[in-house]
Amino acid sequence: MAEVTVNPWRKDFPILAQTMNGKRLAFLDSGASAQKPQCVIDTMTQIYQTHYSNIHRGLYEFSQILTGEFEAARNKVADFIKAPSPRSIIFTRNSTESINLVAQSWGRTFLSAGDEIILTEMEHHANFVPWHILKNQIGIVIKYIPVLEDGSLDLTALQNLLTDKTRLVALTHVSNVLGTVNPVEDIIKTVRSHADHIKVLIDGSQAVVHGAVDVAALDADFYVFTGHKLYAPTGVGVLYGRESLLEKMPPWQGGGDMIEKVTLDGVTYAELPNKFEAGTPAIVEVIGLGTAIDYVSKIGLAQISKWEHELLVYATKKLLQIKGLKILGTTKNKAGIISFTVEGCPASDLAMILDQMGVAVRSGHHCCQPLMGVLGVEGTIRASIGLYTDKDDIDQLIAGIIKAKMMLT
Ligand SMILES: Cc1ncc(COP(=O)(O)O)c(C=O)c1O
Repeated sequence: MAEVTVNPWRKDFPILAQTMNGKRLAFLDSGASAQKPQCVIDTMTQIYQTHYSNIHRGLYEFSQILTGEFEAARNKVADFIKAPSPRSIIFTRNSTESINLVAQSWGRTFLSAGDEIILTEMEHHANFVPWHILKNQIGIVIKYIPVLEDGSLDLTALQNLLTDKTRLVALTHVSNVLGTVNPVEDIIKTVRSHADHIKVLIDGSQAVVHGAVDVAALDADFYVFTGHKLYAPTGVGVLYGRESLLEKMPPWQGGGDMIEKVTLDGVTYAELPNKFEAGTPAIVEVIGLGTAIDYVSKIGLAQISKWEHELLVYATKKLLQIKGLKILGTTKNKAGIISFTVEGCPASDLAMILDQMGVAVRSGHHCCQPLMGVLGVEGTIRASIGLYTDKDDIDQLIAGIIKAKMMLT
């Protein structure tokens, strides 16, 4: 933190001026959900106060304006992840729904009993459970890329896991527990060199917030993320899909807005992307996501990533000075997520004491129970860094852990 010590963006987030339990708020849980900048709050309030209405079918002025803003947000998302066309951007509720959509629409249509898919041991339940549901429905086989001691993936194992029955490789871009940034470009190249027809799904939930993503350059078939971790409202997520693939996939849910024609005898479906967007979407939240993307893009992800990396290095150094503290996930290529255990201090007790000191962290399995098993721990404490995090937050965390340790051991 030699050059910058004052966070220039912190003031944009009104909640950070609040106290928690009477103490300065050190919000270190952005990995679970990030706080919202004033501009996102203003966008949403302004819509409700001035031209809220339903979109797509209204011929009156408010509906037309809002429809334009909604579709402009789709263009912003497409530009943000360098998708070739807004037609390949489907709005969902969150990453979880995006993955379920792929499993139920693509998976149920194109996979059959005995087909193999490859996940990793570090997946969030969102990229785990939908595939197990599919396994129970049609009998696919699920294999896992192992996680090594340092929290990286064992990529030599991937070569052996790929067979002539492999149909999909689905993995997280950044681990929400270990912070590991997986080399998804190399993984996709390995998969493609094995067989062209294998699809790749990347869970970008923790990645889009920490660095720039280019889905076209990556050559991913599906890329998903969730708005609320990207400083946007809850209730909106994104599924990017290769257009030719989305064209072939059947709708997942049926209802209004996703049809071309409905008669008593049958239904034909709308073009992309509407085919996958049944019912009234989270209109205001989607537009809020567009504003969040504008906000993040104006700062620049390179700048955010540099700031967060400096804090990660600072926090890691300070944490390791605490006796009995062990960081899980020590690879070089890490995003601003630090999981740790402290000898003699149960994670939940530690988190509750930190709360009393104004420090918001997460404790437990972080929706990664299989990974906890692999790591041989019940749970961890996780401190996650956002673009508004500063050195004082880290110092407050360190002071809190030292105090908690004295109370618990
Ligand atoms: C890596 C990863 N994938 C998926 C999700 C699920 O996100 P959501 O609950 O918004 O669907 C999360 C949330 O923590 C995550 O960290």
